[in-house]
Amino acid sequence: MVPVDCSYQVTVMCGIIGFTGDGKALEVLLKGLRRLEYRGYDSSGLALLTADGIRVVKRVGSVENLEREASSLRDVKSSVGIAHTRWATHGGVSDRNAHPHTSCDGRVAIVHNGIIENFEELRAELEERGHVFSSETDSEVIAHLLEEELRRRPDDPRGALTSVVRRLKGSFAFIAISTWTSDAILGARYNSPLVVGMGKGFSIPASDVLSFLEWTDDAIFLENESCAIVRPGSVESWLITGEDLDLKVAKVAIEVSEVEKRGYVHHTLKEIHDQRVTVQRTLTQDLGPLEEAAKLLRGASRVFLVAAGTSYHAALVGRHVLAELADVDAQPVLASEYALASRWVNGDSVVVAISQSGETADVLEAVRDAKSKGAKVIGVVNMPGSSLERLSDVHINIRAGPEIGVAATKSFTSQVIALVRLACAVSGREVTLDAEELGRCVEEVLEQEPQIAEIAKDLKDSKDIYLVGRGVHFPIALEGALKVKELAYVHAEGLPAGELKHGTLALIEKGTPVIVLNPSDETYVDTLSNCQELKARGATVIGISDRHHPSYDFFVRVPRTSSKFASVLLEVIPLQLLAYYMALERGAEIDRPRNLAKSVTVK
Ligand code: G6P
Repeated sequence: MVPVDCSYQVTVMCGIIGFTGDGKALEVLLKGLRRLEYRGYDSSGLALLTADGIRVVKRVGSVENLEREASSLRDVKSSVGIAHTRWATHGGVSDRNAHPHTSCDGRVAIVHNGIIENFEELRAELEERGHVFSSETDSEVIAHLLEEELRRRPDDPRGALTSVVRRLKGSFAFIAISTWTSDAILGARYNSPLVVGMGKGFSIPASDVLSFLEWTDDAIFLENESCAIVRPGSVESWLITGEDLDLKVAKVAIEVSEVEKRGYVHHTLKEIHDQRVTVQRTLTQDLGPLEEAAKLLRGASRVFLVAAGTSYHAALVGRHVLAELADVDAQPVLASEYALASRWVNGDSVVVAISQSGETADVLEAVRDAKSKGAKVIGVVNMPGSSLERLSDVHINIRAGPEIGVAATKSFTSQVIALVRLACAVSGREVTLDAEELGRCVEEVLEQEPQIAEIAKDLKDSKDIYLVGRGVHFPIALEGALKVKELAYVHAEGLPAGELKHGTLALIEKGTPVIVLNPSDETYVDTLSNCQELKARGATVIGISDRHHPSYDFFVRVPRTSSKFASVLLEVIPLQLLAYYMALERGAEIDRPRNLAKSVTVK
């Protein structure tokens, strides 16, 4: 028996996929795992239902490791299977703790995303009844509970599944196969996403649509707090409370080619380059009901911009955008720190929730809280069908296309543009950005890639890098620092240029690299003074501006544009490239930085 210890494995932020159909389960699962690898990459595994029972393979490391291991299953005919790619929080990563997890008799296998908060209690209870656990995960309890229920009522999988789900506390999405349920995959979701790809004679339940795009673009987004039985080409679903659900098939408007690297070495580099197209797309195409959202903002007594990570930096820019273009006072709130803001949220408030994935747990929790207080929610989202989209009163789709690199790049520029369009809708003015000009300027910035790659060589061994800017350029300094940290694993700090003298200047020595964002707008003169203070202390200054100055040791020119917010968009691109090339020089894992996940679905 495996004792429960404090180093238990809580399984979170993972990718899950299943297949039920016509004999190609292994192929679909392995391809799906490749697509899901951006969600979690500690370990992966799969389970197939075969004539001889359930066969499981799982391995620590990349999906490539699993593919090698799974070659033993190449000749196994199987039409039903489930698979998982994992990102864990506590304790070490081991083959044993990788998913799928099976019940004692091996007749049930499950894969799970989320946290089962009451797993210790459930596990103790199951062990008392003689169940033997083979991992330290919270997830394994689901397999044992299902085994008990299915054994008791093999002809009633719906009853068995509902009764198991009602016992679980936490947030979860799981799918399961069993020798009792032949071609059916049992699944449930509670505050964690689950969608089913629907094809002729097959179905693919998964944690996101990108995993099955190759096979179908028809999808059923399962309701939150629901259970489902997925059979080839059909799904039956009901709320955990028992009420039947009417399911609708939606078309996923994403091309498979959009999730490919298309000749680039890394998704991240491709996505940086994508911006020449995505900025224009967000600027010119239909993003959804902007007018409706604008009306909500006009009537609000308080506006909050809630987001995490890079999306929070877009919110910080959004504050300037809404103030300057629409005279709206919006308060940016880090989703994980929303508790304090919550006391001011009421029925007259509007929460603008910004999230690339639409699945960040802290953002969703803030949104649920705001809704419970009667506030209206405007979701600014990239992934179609996401939980945030479904929870929002009005949602705006930024149309950046799938973003696979864990470090957000193109979603940031599209979020900012969507906020500019929203602000212009509020004030009823023409959008202040020109699509053609912006596209051309992005191109000009990208042309400096070789020169930026050279600067990256000089900076790659830096211990610390500082980035400074004033006003709306300060959030860009924060975003640049975040890129350097997550891609190159180099400590970087973004700060308002005016704050240097209040402490950080003490850290500046000969050669300390400082990136100065200094476009020729109202911040120019003051930022230039700060730059000279830095030079006087020996800093190596990298100037990013439309105007050269002799105090810059390195210089990246961003084109002068007719709009201040356009220069904000342009100055982030050299920072994304710089972080990318620093990471490349340092041999870092660029698309999947260590310890990070694309979508943080737990608190
Ligand atoms: C994770 C990702 C970041 C992202 C943040 C917020 O930390 O690695 O790239 O900015 O989550 O994600 P969201 O999907 O809500 O924008």
